[in-house]
Order: sequence, then structure tokens, then C-alpha cells
Amino acid sequence: MIDRAGLRRRTVLGWLSASTSFGAFAGAAACQQAPRIYDMQVSRDVGCPCCHVWTELMETTGRFRVTMVDAPDLPAFKRRLGVPPGLGSCHTAVVETYVVEGHVPAEDILRLLEQRPTGVRGIAVPGMPRGSPGMEQPNGAVDPYEVIAFGADGIQSVFSRHAGRS
Ligand code: CU
Ligand code: CU
Repeated sequence: MIDRAGLRRRTVLGWLSASTSFGAFAGAAACQQAPRIYDMQVSRDVGCPCCHVWTELMETTGRFRVTMVDAPDLPAFKRRLGVPPGLGSCHTAVVETYVVEGHVPAEDILRLLEQRPTGVRGIAVPGMPRGSPGMEQPNGAVDPYEVIAFGADGIQSVFSRHAGRS
């Protein structure tokens, strides 16, 4: 478990190490590009514990600079961002222009940011499937689940499928 101050501290550390390695890259005129790091703001239901677990997983990828805020009215916030009814979960993240709803795996978010598919406003894992990132079970059970892409026009499609395990 990490508190908000801890998150912020880590964000600063992450930024420092990112800029240090960028300096090293630039100095060596390396031909390889450092992976891009994205800002992510997570709004969560007050008191919900799994949002922290998911947020921590996002940070450990090293690809996101995360800040977390308690949303006083999360359903209204989701509506404002255009999360379709029925796709909601316990936390709502914003990365660049995209909405990331619920326990979405980091690999899907990175693919969204790299491919930027036309018409997609965000991706969501509705509910809280067991075994999705941040919802790991002591017995290792994983429910099969889908990541759903949604657009401003209300169109939804399957962005990725994740297999289950019992
Ligand atoms: Cu949660
Ligand atoms: Cu959750």
C-alpha cells in the first residue's frame, strides 16, 4: 500500500531518473530512443484499496508518471469523460487524451498510445475481473476478460482478450 505522498515522491524520483538517463543518452548520441514516459492521472473511489494496487503496477512498468486523486463524485466524472454506462469500474485514469477505465493491463494502454486508433476515446475493463491487474487472487484464479475500446460516438469494440485460468 502506498499513500498519496509516497506516490508523489516516487513520481519525482521517476522523473529524476528519467531525465538522468535522457541526459546520458543525449551525451552519448545513442541511436536508440529512450522509451517515452506518459503522465497518468488516476481518479478513484474514496477508500477503494484495489486502485492502489493497479496504480502501483502501472508505475512499476516505468512507462507512466502517476498521480492519484480521490474523486468526490466518480460516476459524474466518468460521465463527463464519456465512459459508457456499463463499462465502469472503480477507478478512471486519464493518459494524454485517452480515458482508461478500470483494471486495464499496461500493455493495452501502451498499445493504445502507440497505435492511436481512429475514433477511440478510451479503453475499459468493466467491473473488476478476478486476476486482472490489481485484482490478483491468492489462489491465482483469473477470469477471462476483454478490454473494450469506446469512441465518442458510442461505438464499442473489443481491443484485446485476456485468457482465464482456474
Ligand atoms: Cu479500486
Ligand atoms: Cu478495482
